[in-house]
Amino acid sequence: MEAERVQVIASRSNAMGTIPSEFIRSELERPGTTTFHGPVPEIPVVDLAVPDRDRVVQVMVKAGQEWGMFQVVNHGIPVEVIKELQRVGKEFFELPQEEKEAYAMKPESETLEGYGTKLQKDLEGKMAWVDFFFHNIWPQSRVDHSIWPKNPASYRKANEEYTKHLLGVVDEVLASLSLGLGLEEHVLKDALGGEELELLLKINYYPPCPRPDLALGVVAHTDMSAITMLVPNEVPGLQVFRDDHWFDTKYIPNAIIVHIGDQIEILSNGKYKSVLHRTTVNKEKVRMSWPVFCSPPAEMVVGPLPQLVSHESPAKYKTKKYKEYKYCKINKLPQ
Ligand code: SIN
Ligand code: FE2
Repeated sequence: MEAERVQVIASRSNAMGTIPSEFIRSELERPGTTTFHGPVPEIPVVDLAVPDRDRVVQVMVKAGQEWGMFQVVNHGIPVEVIKELQRVGKEFFELPQEEKEAYAMKPESETLEGYGTKLQKDLEGKMAWVDFFFHNIWPQSRVDHSIWPKNPASYRKANEEYTKHLLGVVDEVLASLSLGLGLEEHVLKDALGGEELELLLKINYYPPCPRPDLALGVVAHTDMSAITMLVPNEVPGLQVFRDDHWFDTKYIPNAIIVHIGDQIEILSNGKYKSVLHRTTVNKEKVRMSWPVFCSPPAEMVVGPLPQLVSHESPAKYKTKKYKEYKYCKINKLPQ
């Protein structure tokens, strides 16, 4: 069955000023009534250009413990590289619908790659106001260029450039998080497969929505990855749950937003928190984001690092293959 794209539903809805009922969230989820509007505590900012490494580690560790999320600035990825990544992604989503459908995810295929819309309704029986494109970007052996957008022509080059630069930032973040656990800097990356660490890009496309108070882009969730490195466009929408409230994330141009995912929470035996987050949509503007999920290979066994487990501090999580974790998460089974 072919799903109707939210981009198509949105053009109809915007003409009518209403949204289909399956997009209307329950009272408990509606962003209009559940977003905190008070003095908003800011999501921590980690400046990688600070020469004092201990200081960088300290800030990141505190953010990882208290928020499970931080924004990285002065990360060394050139502004033009990020702008190009965003430009080619936006151009793809602006192509005629039939052209995009040529990249549609095949429901029967094993891989998660391609253009898509969530087919199933979620636990609440609701749909999310978003279309997306998934494709692997690293390691090279996992990259299938035949499923990447061919239009615009510069799509591949822009994504390869971004990947090359992003890998360095991923290494820096994992190294600092390792040091923050009192371990050598290579430990977390090794525990995630080392050079086999997999990077999966998702492009989220949230069309304008006539009732942003009632709909959600992505419902509340934690990422099953180890870490997620995200660049948004300038339209706000990412919200974080903390102290029983949903807070808006401030937009910092060119910053990379880092989410601690489930695998780092597990490896750190709970010292770092996998962040609960969701996204809202905008009445007039298209919101887009480019999260890159950094995850261990499917066969990698992940559990609390033995160095962090003792009689006084027992393991808080099960140890299992990443593919088993993923299966339970996707099918909403207990871990
Ligand atoms: C997501 O968590 O999948 C999306 C985050 C975002 O769009 O900012
Ligand atoms: Fe997420």
